[in-house]
Amino acid sequence: MRRRRWPGAKYVTSGSAHDLKTFPGENRDQHSYRSWLTELLTEAYRASTEHAVSMVFSDWRQEPTTSDALQMAGWTRQGTIPWIKPASRPRKGGFKQSAEFITWGVKGTLDNNRDIYLPGHFTASQPRKDRVHITQKPLEIMQQLVRICPEDGVVLDPFTGSGSTGVAALLEGRRFVGVELSPHYADIAEQRLRAELTQDDFALAGPEA
Ligand SMILES: C[S@@+](CC[C@H](N)C(=O)[O-])C[C@H]1O[C@@H](n2cnc3c(N)ncnc32)[C@H](O)[C@@H]1O
Repeated sequence: MRRRRWPGAKYVTSGSAHDLKTFPGENRDQHSYRSWLTELLTEAYRASTEHAVSMVFSDWRQEPTTSDALQMAGWTRQGTIPWIKPASRPRKGGFKQSAEFITWGVKGTLDNNRDIYLPGHFTASQPRKDRVHITQKPLEIMQQLVRICPEDGVVLDPFTGSGSTGVAALLEGRRFVGVELSPHYADIAEQRLRAELTQDDFALAGPEA
């Protein structure tokens, strides 16, 4: 059965009505989500260098499928990082679903020569002020995540949305490649990324930037 819910119905906390634009690609059932994600992560694996890390956000429902797809694509699974959202809605009669999950894997093995130590969980609320995307990720989390990429590496986000991964990458001194299907969100991401670029970056990128 296809999932028909508008993304806003899933992501917007009740009572916080707003006019953020919806986005495509959220209507796959478990079967097709697994095939699609496996294909995508297989291509990402092919394009990545040894020790590269892949990270995929999901909710509790999609996490097992995400973990399957990651491994089917060749990545060596390293774990699942919980992102606790304190402001999540209460659940009558049960435990509230207050977390998203970041399933991560590596191409080959982690690079033991790097002297970095990153957190095993995060607690952060979704941005409220100046929020421009329904599922906009907190910069404080994204800045920690992109640090897994070596400083001379490139961070790829094939689902850029409003560009939070890219902004975090630039703030952390990493290069960034983003892909976004929705022209509305591609424009927003471009504006946010341009706001982070310095004169030196523009000089490096040339007159087309
Ligand atoms: C979960 S949102 C990403 C939100 C982003 N992390 C942020 O902080 O704003 C996923 C995005 O992927 C885009 N998308 C969906 N299908 C896509 C596709 N096939 N190729 C590129 N982008 C796609 C959607 O338009 C949506 O903006």
